[in-house]
Amino acid sequence: MEELLKQIQDHKSEIKAFTATDEKAVEEFRIKWLGTKGLVKTIMGEMKNVPNEKKKEFGQILNEFKQFAETKYEELRSSTSNFKPQTSNIDLTLPGDIIPVGTRHPISLMTNRIISIFQRLGFAVAEGPEIEDDWHNFTALNLPEHHPARDMQDTFYVQQNPDWLLRTHTSNIQIREMQKGKLPIRIICPGRVYRNETVSARSHCFFHQVEGLYIDENVSFADLKQTLYFFAKEMYGSDVKIRFRPSYFPFTEPSAEMDISCMLCKGAGCNVCKKTGWLEILGSGMVHPNVLANCGIDPNKYTGFAFGMGIERPALLKYGINDIRLFSENDVRFLKQFTSAV
Ligand code: DAH
Repeated sequence: MEELLKQIQDHKSEIKAFTATDEKAVEEFRIKWLGTKGLVKTIMGEMKNVPNEKKKEFGQILNEFKQFAETKYEELRSSTSNFKPQTSNIDLTLPGDIIPVGTRHPISLMTNRIISIFQRLGFAVAEGPEIEDDWHNFTALNLPEHHPARDMQDTFYVQQNPDWLLRTHTSNIQIREMQKGKLPIRIICPGRVYRNETVSARSHCFFHQVEGLYIDENVSFADLKQTLYFFAKEMYGSDVKIRFRPSYFPFTEPSAEMDISCMLCKGAGCNVCKKTGWLEILGSGMVHPNVLANCGIDPNKYTGFAFGMGIERPALLKYGINDIRLFSENDVRFLKQFTSAV
């Protein structure tokens, strides 16, 4: 027992002499003395070797030793916590860091402007997948397999599944909306599209379109014309002229392309309009009865018009940009120049 008392005495001197300047040292102290494998535990374990008649006396000594170590630990903790960061060094009155505010991409500005014009006419925005199946991108739009008009759009196919492709136009969205079966439909569908074309200043392998679709009873070509005329005036100014040229799209019959008078030369003829005075801006037509039927809509009861336009070309014209590749290079010096589409 003498030995145990001596050991406790030594431990106490060691504990008393211990100093710490940081929390790491305090933690080391805790592990050494008070941890689950610490020396206090070991000493307490000696109790079982103490003869019964001395148990009471020794119990007090051991408890006192344990408390001694615990008190020291508390002291160390409160003294080192004074070493914590000097809060007084932080000046709370300093202005905060400025968070730079970005600008909208010119393609987004243009798209939003187009959408807002059609929203005023009651069109709602609809979206659809960029990875599409053949049926929604082609077959349902009256472009069955081997139809020669499929060659009008060079397509990227997904290697693992030749039935999947990157949509070549946003017309897949009109199919998906018609399939829902809720009529009438009046939607505007913005989105990115992909075509296997050589990248140059004038064309890219991906670009953006806005598609429109209106289906109800008694929708006529006059509705199409008036809607698009309203759009052209809102977009390009009230003195803009429009003209329709007969055209061909498999999903519309009749089909027409719409030109607007060149806003640069006001129709006199310049380099941008190739001396014609006109700029082609969209394709349109009355939805083909086959397309309605493919989507479960009765073509004898309902008619509709559709149109689709690219975003890049009008954006190039509007902002006087001469290379379509600039839109996807993400050069901040280019992007921060655009603040408004008006
Ligand atoms: N999908 C056509 C294209 O990408 C554009 C288009 C033309 C869409 C006529 C239409 C439409 O909805 O009626 O070239």
